[in-house]
Formats: sequence, C-alpha cells, structure tokens
Amino acid sequence: MRIPLDRQNSLPLYQQIETYLRQGILSGSLAPETRLPACRQLARDLGVNRITVENAYSGLEADGLVFSRVGSGTYVLPPNPLPPVQKSSPEADWPLWQQSLQAHNIVAKSGLADEMLKAAGHAHPISFASGISDSRQFPADDFRKVLQAVMRRDGIDALDYGERAGYRPLREGIAHILASQGLQVPAENILITAGSQPAISLVAQVLLKPEDVILVESPTYNIAVDLFNRLGFIVVGIPMDGQGMQVEKLEKLLQQHHPKLIYTIPNFHNPTGTCLTGARRRQLIILADRYNVPILEDDFVGDLRYEGRAQPALKSLDPGGQVIYVSTFSKMLMPGIRVGFLAADGPVYDSLLGFKRLSDLATSTLIQRALEAYVTVGRYQAYLRRSILLFRKRRDAMVSAIDRYLPAGTAYDPPQGGLFLWLRLPEAMSADELLPLACEEGVSFAPGSHFFAGGSSGREWMRLNFVSQPAEEIEVGIKRLGKAIRRMSVRQ
Ligand SMILES: Cc1ncc(COP(=O)(O)O)c(C=O)c1O
Repeated sequence: MRIPLDRQNSLPLYQQIETYLRQGILSGSLAPETRLPACRQLARDLGVNRITVENAYSGLEADGLVFSRVGSGTYVLPPNPLPPVQKSSPEADWPLWQQSLQAHNIVAKSGLADEMLKAAGHAHPISFASGISDSRQFPADDFRKVLQAVMRRDGIDALDYGERAGYRPLREGIAHILASQGLQVPAENILITAGSQPAISLVAQVLLKPEDVILVESPTYNIAVDLFNRLGFIVVGIPMDGQGMQVEKLEKLLQQHHPKLIYTIPNFHNPTGTCLTGARRRQLIILADRYNVPILEDDFVGDLRYEGRAQPALKSLDPGGQVIYVSTFSKMLMPGIRVGFLAADGPVYDSLLGFKRLSDLATSTLIQRALEAYVTVGRYQAYLRRSILLFRKRRDAMVSAIDRYLPAGTAYDPPQGGLFLWLRLPEAMSADELLPLACEEGVSFAPGSHFFAGGSSGREWMRLNFVSQPAEEIEVGIKRLGKAIRRMSVRQ
C-alpha cells in the first residue's frame, strides 16, 4: 500500500497514515472486510517505525473503523450507523493539505479584548479597545445621498473596472488634500487601494521576499506585523520613546541586519500616540538614503491633530524615490468604504501598479466616484474640523478621568492627536492579567503585548481608544478601569 507522507509536515506521521486510511474507509474505497497490510509490512513499505503504524491502526480501531482478529490481521469494518467517536482534535478529518495550513495560521489578537468583554456579559459594556473612530459619527446620510447622485450621474460608468491606478478625479482630489498638508504629489504618483492595509501588503510583497528583514517600530500596528510574519519576513524592532522611533539606534540595526524596508508610523503612532520629531525625521531620511533602504510611511491619522505643530511628512523630505507614503479614509471618514492610497515615485510605482492589478484587478469604481463627490464638495474638510473639535474634548475627558480615577503609578503622555492614549500600569502589573478583571467590571482595552513582535514584552502597557466613546462613557469606563486595577493590586 502506498500512502503519501509529508515529512516536513508538523502533523505526526502516525496521524497522516491514520487520516489517509480513515478517508479511504469513509469514502468506501477501502471496502468492509478489506484486510489492511500487516503493521510490519506497511512500516517497511513506508519507511517508518512499526509503532507508527500500530498507533495509526489503534486510532482507527478506537473509532470503530477497523477491528483486529488475533493471529489474522486488521480488517475494515462495515460503515457504522452511529457517528464516529469524537476525536480530541475535530480538525483531524480535514485533508492533509488543510491540516498543514493550521500550523501556519496566525491567531489575530485584534478583536480578542472585545470578544472577552462580550463574553463577560456586563449589562452596559464600554470598549476602549477598538482601532477606529466613533461609528455613530460616520456621515452615513450624506454618503447615501452622494452614492445615489453618482449612480444617477454616471450610470454604468460607475460600475466598470475603471482606471488601473484609480479614478482620476479622486486621485486629483487626494493630491489637493495632500498639498494642503504640505505634501506635493502629482495625481500620476497616487495609486488608490481598498484601504491602507492592502497598500502595505502590496509594498511588502513587491519589495521583500521570505527571510528578508523588515525594521518596524517596537511596538507597532499589530496587523502589519502579523502580515509581515505571514509573508515570511524577519521582523526586527526599533526601540521607541516619547518622541517616536529612536532614530539614534537605527544605524547599528541597518548595519547589523541589512533590512529591505523600514515600516514607520511617524504621526500619532499606533499604539503609542507619539509623533516623530522633525530632527529625527530628517535623520531617518538621511540614514535610509545612505544605506539604500526604502521607507514605508504609514500616515493613517496624520490629519487628526488637536494641538501642536505638524511635522513634515517623511515623503515631503524625500530626496527622490526613497519614501512610499500610504494613507487611508478609514479613520478620518469610515473604514467600511475601504478606500486608501499610496504615493510613490520612480520605477516602484509601476511595479506596485502592476502587482495591484494581479492582486485585485481594481478597487470599487462606484465607491471611488462617491468618495470623490463627497470630498470635493468641501464636506471632507468640514467633517474633519468637526471631528477634531469632538475628539479633542474626548481626549481631554479621558486625561481628566485617568487623573481622577486611576491609582498613582499609572503613567502616560497626553497625545496631541490621533486615536490612542498609551498608558503604563503601576510597577509589575500586567495588562494581559488585568483584562479579564476589567471585562468583569464592564470595560475593555487593547493590551500592550499585542503590539510587540513576539508578544513577550509590553505587558505593563495598554492602548486606550479615546475617540470611540462619548465623554460621559469615557468617565464611566475609566472609573471601572480604576476599580479593576485596585482589585488586582489587592490580589498581588
Ligand atoms: C497604523 C495603521 N495603518 C493601517 C491601518 C489599516 O487600515 P485600513 O486598511 O482600514 O486603511 C490601520 C488600521 O487599524 C492602522 O492602525
């Protein structure tokens, strides 16, 4: 009997044999009363140990699929009208190629905190764990009207694949918005994507191959790190402080690791909320240029500044072709429209354009046209101004509630913009251990360990989203958090 075995597979050989025979029996290709090869014989045929085959046979026997007659051999039983006994791993019945996928699956940490909050069953849960702004503020009505107007105006043109780089008037609108922020990028250098996550993915896949090193801030946006790991890159962290990436430590890392890309979030960083200083921005560009390493600048909420002076985008300091800039309408407007973009110059733009076509053919034409109509009528700027006013108040509400309700020893720097406040717990307290208690009290947050590659550091940190709840809820939520922290200190 020939059974295909994959010795690189993480699934033990006895389970591979058992799965193969099980499928044969259940599909009928191994008929009842068929005599299976003797263990010794099959072990020899497959080049495995006899015990491996015996283990496979006893698994089948335990499930009532075969029986052994003393001195005669092992035989296939007729189909059992009763369902087979539940295995300890219900996935064991999937085809082998599916089972090997399980070993590579990355368990996404985002969303876990809110699942835990839901499971705790509090009557009025408050989440500070989300990564978006307040969905109650989305301009849903305006957008519905714009969508209808675009369908009336453009008809079937709005339902075509459209231009490869994205709807030209939207690219021009984006170029306008960027220019108002001091970043001059012609529409020809903009590529529209379905959010900024696909833009990050495109850049990563075009520039790197498995085993290449990518430098990222540590901590950083967890879904980018999960993506880089899934693509087989070696992720190396650059330490941060209250002023963003510690660029002083970068040169050594460049010399040591020869990275193929530096991924950075210079404005209102996720998760720390910090902004990279002007001097560090200039130094970063100089080093990237000197060591011939491209920079991927993720400006996911650069517009949401509540105070302080904006620093120039890295892309605006680019001596030419060194920086690829990505941004999104997800945080400033709505994540579900799935529109983001990248700006790049030089041959890499065409590589990205070509690869995007292979990946998804096109980004929704209808949504791009609607967004263009929405953005150009000035509503975007007005909406942004309103959001800034509202979110600044919420930031202040969170800062004041923290000062009133959290015990001494918690520390944070008030963020000047963005969505997140990065809070350190009192000495030796772990946010991962605090989370279940906080959920019992009816509040959740994103534990800091989720944002460090490897997940073993940052246990004393948590990320609090201060824009997604009204001020009154923030007050109640932080009060609950204070109670959970005090409960935990008593336990320790
Ligand atoms: C830093 C950062 N970059 C990019 C993204 C991707 O967002 P989207 O694909 O919705 O644009 C997120 C989402 O949370 C983020 O936090």
